[in-house]
Amino acid sequence: MKFQTQRPQTWQVCLACGREMTELDPHPRCSACGGLLELRHRPPELSAAQLIERFTDRRGRRPDTGTSGVWRFREVVLPSAEEVISHPEGNTPLLHRPALDRWTGVDHLLLKHEGHNPTGSFKDRGMTVGVTQARRIGATAVACASTGNTSASLAAYAAQAGIPALVLVPADQVALGKLAQTLAYGARTLLVRGDFDACLKLVEEASSRLGVYLLNSINPFRIEGQKTIVLELLQQLGWEPPDWIVLPAGNLGNTAAFGKALVEAHRWGLIPRIPRLAAVQAAGAAPFARSFAEDFENRYAVRAETVATAIRIGDPASFERAVSAIRETDGVVLAVTDDEILEAKAAVDGCGIGCEPASAAAVAGARDLVRRGLMAPEQHAVAVLTGHVLKDPGILLTYHRDMSPPPPGANRPIEIDASLAELERILATS
Ligand code: F0G
Repeated sequence: MKFQTQRPQTWQVCLACGREMTELDPHPRCSACGGLLELRHRPPELSAAQLIERFTDRRGRRPDTGTSGVWRFREVVLPSAEEVISHPEGNTPLLHRPALDRWTGVDHLLLKHEGHNPTGSFKDRGMTVGVTQARRIGATAVACASTGNTSASLAAYAAQAGIPALVLVPADQVALGKLAQTLAYGARTLLVRGDFDACLKLVEEASSRLGVYLLNSINPFRIEGQKTIVLELLQQLGWEPPDWIVLPAGNLGNTAAFGKALVEAHRWGLIPRIPRLAAVQAAGAAPFARSFAEDFENRYAVRAETVATAIRIGDPASFERAVSAIRETDGVVLAVTDDEILEAKAAVDGCGIGCEPASAAAVAGARDLVRRGLMAPEQHAVAVLTGHVLKDPGILLTYHRDMSPPPPGANRPIEIDASLAELERILATS
């Protein structure tokens, strides 16, 4: 067939025999000769100049650091920075999936997916500012302790800046994707026989002794960058604040950053009221939730254990800053179990979004808030997914392939011979 009269906007053509098909023809190859297909478009009705104008508008006017979702907010991040080390980062999506509304009981839950950052976690927002600052002060080397994401991000930004990076991570407790990234980006990587808390103590001692610039989230420049998660989501909502922002909490840098961003945004008239923060810890690593339950009268350090290795932290460094953040936002601190985290993760993964285990704690936390009557279903809530699904492939294979008995959401892969008969047999039985 050939389209005789006015061509449609888009159609398919077989590269082998020239046969033309509609855009909606479902065949993967030409149904006449089996050749490969190609899409063709009618020439656009706009002139080239008009098209360029339109593409430019959609992308944002300034093709400089304005395209970074951190430096776009530079007036409230680090106004004096001139030469910035930017990937660029940020510009992460706000997502909605009805399946997660049903799972959490929230009428309209939005997900701010920070896994869409260049190294796959929110850490890039702090690191672009931290490494920019390292360059400004002439640091000769940078360092951090990490459960994996900070190290991957530091390694990438230090490589971009041409500054050597030293990374301390707990041996055997870092998710595979994060360790692989850290090595790939070239950081000097030490696997410490100890937990994250031991790594942090050691790197603090070492950095002052060795004159290395420390880029953990105790570094205030990191916090300034991480504020932009909140600023960007407020901008995406037209500066109409949600009722709740729910986030996972480990070392508490992000909780501190969110509180600071909200208080400043309110003080400077960007938003009319302050949303409530809900910081969610893993039950096996919940010293902050325990303090919250006692109105922050005591500070605790625990021996941390959780499947969410990113937040396997027993003695959070930004404790005081995070207490202020919770107080100033009328916030709450929760703890969710590993089973709840894995169930939430299966729900997030299963609707095609995907996140790492620590991120799923935020979604489990949203469900918990509704169940406990703290959040009304019709309230507006944003849960922050802090890291990408591929950060922790190990937990995915354990959950879907290896666990016995298989958990409810397990999607077992099946190995088969390359025969149609066997494929049909398998599909008939499952
Ligand atoms: N989610 C993810 C994916 C994380 O990697 C972290 C922290 C958090 C949540 C908690 O943020 O520490 O500011 O309360 N990861 C750090 C790291 C500790 O080394 O990558 P926090």
